Parts: sequence; structure tokens; C-alpha cells
Amino acid sequence: MNKFLIAGNWKMNKTASEAKAFIEELKAKNFSNAEEVAVLVPFTDLYTVKDALAGSGIKFGAQNVHFEASGAFTGEVSVPMLSEIGVDYCVIGHSERREYFNETDETVNKKLKVLIEAGITPILCVGESLEVREKGEEQAFVGGQLVADFEGISAKDATKIVIAYEPIWAIGTGKTATPEQAEEMCAFIRGVMEGMYDAVVAESLLILYGGSMKPSNAKELLEKEDINGGLIGGASLKADDFAGIADAAAALK
Ligand code: 13P
Repeated sequence: MNKFLIAGNWKMNKTASEAKAFIEELKAKNFSNAEEVAVLVPFTDLYTVKDALAGSGIKFGAQNVHFEASGAFTGEVSVPMLSEIGVDYCVIGHSERREYFNETDETVNKKLKVLIEAGITPILCVGESLEVREKGEEQAFVGGQLVADFEGISAKDATKIVIAYEPIWAIGTGKTATPEQAEEMCAFIRGVMEGMYDAVVAESLLILYGGSMKPSNAKELLEKEDINGGLIGGASLKADDFAGIADAAAALK
């Protein structure tokens, strides 16, 4: 039986009242695979979304966290704060954070460790820019990110991390990686993890694809052997589109 995670990354979208209305719409879809569906929302929406989702089986999470537990870090949010809310997931190392907010492999690595310790599942994003791909260096680049991001993380803990391959050139551009390109990189990532750990760890990992995933291309991406789900931006903001992708996953079980 195929395991999937269909996660919607709302990015900086939806106020709390918009979030509540959206979750009501989503619950009405009555997903057969609700446990494999998650919404990753702005901090200000977390409590509202938690309450609105109660009893639905749908999971939720944040989009970033600080690696320190507390202190003089104005504007930041810590793992204990997320733990108390009860989030299931937290996105780490999204390319937008790497590009606009100085996220580095070093901070990503620290964040992964504190999240795992707290029992929150990190969704670690990796992926190359168009420039890197045009030079044919995508595997070296993503392989380097993985080595740095997993530094000092044990095999047992590595299995607790979800990896999302998000080629930057496919994010929000409407330009999806072909299923073959996405599968090639997800299989490559699994191979890197096998090299860093072992085959058992590599096989147990959920590896997602992200970048302009939508109902019309979800099936062909999700049916690939090494793609275990999607991290969805734009299409996760519309209940019908997001449900279309979750249903494509459910149909492949
Ligand atoms: P889009 O689905 O809008 O391309 O965004 C993908 C993404 O960045 C999800 O984290």
C-alpha cells in the first residue's frame, strides 16, 4: 500500500477568519485519506486551524521555527511554542526562506534537531535554482544540501524527517518538473540517504515533490515510485484544487 503526504504550504496567505472558512470547506470534502493530508499555515492561523480541524484527521503545521528555545530574538517563534499548540509538522529550509531570510544549511540543521527532539515532524525542503540546473549540477547541489542538512543526525532520527524536493524554477511559475525529472531527483535523494545511512532508512523516507503541482498533473507525479506526496503552494489555497490532489493520491493506494 502506497504511503503519501499531501501537504499544503499556504505561505503568507489567509487571515485567521479566512483560514477558518477554508478549513470548513476542506472538511466538507470528507477525505478518505485525511491522515495523509496536512495544511502548513502562518503562525497567526495555528490555533484557529487546530480548532477547526478537530476530529477531521487532517494534520497541520507551521512554516518555520527558531532553533533556540527562548530568548532575545524579536519576531521569532520557538519549538516549545509550537509544541504547546500541538503542531504535527514544520516546514524547514524552504527556498523562499533560504533566499529572502538568510536561512542556511547550518540553521536548517539546528532546526531539524530541535524539532525532532520535540516530536514535531520536519518537512525539509531542498532543490536547485534554474541556473544550477542549466549547468547540469542539480544532483551535486541537492546532494550537498542533504549532507549539510543531516549533519550529526542519527539514522533513527533521519527516518523522522520528510524531505521535499522543490526545484526553485518550478515554484509558483506554473512550470512543473516533468514526472521523469521529478522522479529522477527524488530517486537520487533516496540514493543519497541510502549512502549516508542505509537502505532501511532510505526506503522508509517520505520524499515529496513540490513546484506547481495541481490536480491535472498530480496523478502522473504521484504514481512515480520515489514520489511519496506533494508540497503544494498555489493550488493548496483553493479547496477544490487541493482536494483534487489529495484524491489523486487516494486513488493510487
Ligand atoms: P507552488 O505549488 O505554488 O509552485 O509552490 C510550491 C511550494 O513552494 C510549496 O512549498
